[in-house]
Amino acid sequence: MVLAEDKESSLVELRRFQPKVVTLDLGLPPDPANASAGLELMEEILKLSPSSKIIVVTGNDEREVAMKAVELGAYDYYQKPIQPDELKLIINRAFELANLEEESRIHRRNENMRFHGIVATSPKMLAVCQKIEKVAPTDLNVMLEGDSGTGKEVLGRAVHHLSKKESKPFAYLNCAAIPENLLETELFGYDAAGFNQGQSSSLGKIEEANEGTLFLDEVGMMPMSLQAKFMRVLTDGVVERVGSREATSVTLRVICSANSQLEQQVQEGKFREDLYYKLNEINISIPPLSERDGDVVLIARTMLNKFNQQFGRNIKGFTKAAVQAMEAYSWPGNVRELENKIKSAVVMSENTQISPEDLQIDESQLREMPLNLRQVREAAETRAIQRAIVLADGNISQAAKLLGLTRPTLYSLMDKYSIHS
Ligand SMILES: Nc1ncnc2c1ncn2[C@@H]1O[C@H](COP(=O)(O)OP(=O)(O)OP(=O)(O)O)[C@@H](O)[C@H]1O
Ligand SMILES: [Mg+2]
Repeated sequence: MVLAEDKESSLVELRRFQPKVVTLDLGLPPDPANASAGLELMEEILKLSPSSKIIVVTGNDEREVAMKAVELGAYDYYQKPIQPDELKLIINRAFELANLEEESRIHRRNENMRFHGIVATSPKMLAVCQKIEKVAPTDLNVMLEGDSGTGKEVLGRAVHHLSKKESKPFAYLNCAAIPENLLETELFGYDAAGFNQGQSSSLGKIEEANEGTLFLDEVGMMPMSLQAKFMRVLTDGVVERVGSREATSVTLRVICSANSQLEQQVQEGKFREDLYYKLNEINISIPPLSERDGDVVLIARTMLNKFNQQFGRNIKGFTKAAVQAMEAYSWPGNVRELENKIKSAVVMSENTQISPEDLQIDESQLREMPLNLRQVREAAETRAIQRAIVLADGNISQAAKLLGLTRPTLYSLMDKYSIHS
């Protein structure tokens, strides 16, 4: 339990502890008879920590104030004079509800992401998934940055599916897969009336995505001339088909993917800066597979099941050596490489378990694993703590519970390893 005696210190403690349950006396200094400062503080608490359950405590004759507080989002109210047993009951009920809500939130996120084909357990990827859930319902343009095979496309599609535009159109265009001279009509469409060559008119991806989402994969490959034209679509909200002067209005959310060189391209004048910022309203950087602790094995398992089914095979799992090799390998081709290696192992393996040879992992590409036991232990502890904090949405008491620690122990470990919640 944490006590705070005034507004400022309560907000400091709130940020630090994100309590599940707050009891708030609405009669705050300097004017305890007036509840308005208390109600204001309550609104601030809810803004900072929307999942906290607030029980307001009011004077005996202040029913109206209590109702007002509930209307503004308080979980419950309690009137003075305080009967400890009664208040305890209300607080316990609030804790139960907060716990239930939190469990279902965590569960929903895991389900959500799995449902969209994203398998992840590492703190870094869980943080990415959290960010995706947060930005998906906004209409902001999202840029996904990552090396090849890191999952830019699956994550981009997840943004659309978790957005308010899910039932609206989704159009996909890979700027790297289409020759430059065809990209313009693919994007902007084609109006045959302007020509006499017997071609028929076609709808471009921009119009196709109208009111929904346009996903531009590998946006860095868009030639300069099209970048200028596309920028006009985004600023003016209109599109003109190739061969036509008629402007059709469009509203779009753009999700795009890019590799880490795009910023460099901007600096070198090879990609328009204004377009870069327009597309990069939210930037999500996807870590390489080698930085995602625990994900390799989990993804490998999921893919083994998938390919067993797809190819009618019945491979039971991985040998210990295969797991070690997968964990030590650097995965330059990221998830796509892992997927390919598992696929070919499932098809080719003669054994009941997949071996390092089946995976064709190049031994010279294995990373040094630390042998010093203290180093190993510290790295494992750091990982577990980070993972628990992410799973618990930054709530330290919940994280401590997941780890089987008391909260003070968790705080001291976080200090030791310089981990922030
Ligand atoms: N977290 C993940 N869990 C499970 N499968 C994944 C995950 N990330 C990517 N994949 C799978 O790996 C493959 C590559 O992903 P995707 O195409 O999204 O990556 P990309 O970054 O666009 O790759 P590229 O640079 O090759 O275009 C896909 O088959 C995808 O389904
Ligand atoms: Mg891709």
